[in-house]
Amino acid sequence: MRRVIQWGTGTVGAEIATAIIDHRDDLELVGALVYSETKNGVDIGTIVGREPIGVTATTDVEQILKLAADCVIYTPRTAHLDDVCRLLASGKNVVTTAFLFHPARIDPADRDRVLAACEKGASSVHGSGINPGNLSGVLPLALSGMSRTIDRITLQERADWSVYESTGITFDNMAFGRPVEDISPTATDFLAFNSSIFTEQVWFLADALNADIDEVSASVEAIAAEADHQIFDHLLAAGTTAGQRWNWIGRRDGEPLIEIETLWTVGGEYPGHWPRPAHGWTLTIEGDPSMRTHFMSLASFTRSASMEEHVRSASVAAGMQILNAVPAVCQAPPGFATSATLPLVRSFAGFRREPGRGQRLLSDGH
Ligand SMILES: NC(=O)c1ccc[n+]([C@@H]2O[C@H](COP(=O)([O-])OP(=O)(O)OC[C@H]3O[C@@H](n4cnc5c(N)ncnc54)[C@H](OP(=O)(O)O)[C@@H]3O)[C@@H](O)[C@H]2O)c1
Repeated sequence: MRRVIQWGTGTVGAEIATAIIDHRDDLELVGALVYSETKNGVDIGTIVGREPIGVTATTDVEQILKLAADCVIYTPRTAHLDDVCRLLASGKNVVTTAFLFHPARIDPADRDRVLAACEKGASSVHGSGINPGNLSGVLPLALSGMSRTIDRITLQERADWSVYESTGITFDNMAFGRPVEDISPTATDFLAFNSSIFTEQVWFLADALNADIDEVSASVEAIAAEADHQIFDHLLAAGTTAGQRWNWIGRRDGEPLIEIETLWTVGGEYPGHWPRPAHGWTLTIEGDPSMRTHFMSLASFTRSASMEEHVRSASVAAGMQILNAVPAVCQAPPGFATSATLPLVRSFAGFRREPGRGQRLLSDGH
């Protein structure tokens, strides 16, 4: 039985905690770090809508560091390298949806700190999710198994964030609703950070597939809303940012080889001059042979489900990609574990439905 700690019980963190309680008899949830005072001291099961499990969440990082655990599942809204380095140095492996997707290509000083922490704690760290994550890492590598040669890889993500519950991310972090002049790859710490993680993904594919690129450029076009939009408790005012088209392009001798493009809107207005891939993610590999695949996640393709459930499915997918990686990351040699070095991560529960450890479900009854 591996002992795990859930760091952050937001949208993604709560999906992971419920999956552990419901489906993972191989994992024991021994702690949770929360930021909200209202969750401090509350049983983790209660926080995520399950029966109490007898373990309370804490806002105290020191308490978490003292716990004996094999792995920390790190899903805060804003990632802190100091916290992750302390966890790794204390001997806990870390899986995260927030960053460290290809740590070999982060700022060298940070990279060396993370590596030193891994060496000290004999631990490893793995960043993944949907994108960055499976669709920008696992899937292209899997498809590349059918390639003789590759000329160009493009991953387009088209998403309207209006129904994404994590408005702290939409408005505070991603700066939707701010003046369009305020949006650039370096405008705020978070936008710079966000740009850096997609830049890392381009480097990841380049390194894994011998692209030998010289650089990755980042650019963004911000689009103003034509009308007001009410997004949960936020008013996105006409004239403020309602669209962000980001492009991260890896070039060799000036030639674009790998591109990640995100076409993000809030409020549902879609600029006429933007490309129009289907909603979701479109991955194109130009080469011998050329291949294209489209990915979308829903709560179900057969039963009717609410928009909230459909949106939640993306958080489930992001969370499960790292939860399912926990055993492999615990077994990986100390250091950076990426989709290129880990074995293929697959569903642990698969078709199994029975809840782990006899927990009774309070909220969703499946
Ligand atoms: N790679 C991917 O494909 C992918 C997909 C989705 C999300 N993500 C990332 O996963 C992370 C979690 O996303 P989410 O949708 O779960 O976000 P969310 O719902 O906004 O989750 C908020 C989480 O952040 C915590 N929090 C509150 N104040 C904070 C602060 N000052 N600093 C740090 N954390 C704070 C909350 O604590 P409490 O536990 O007290 O509520 C909660 O756990 C984010 O970093 C997001 O960018 C990645």
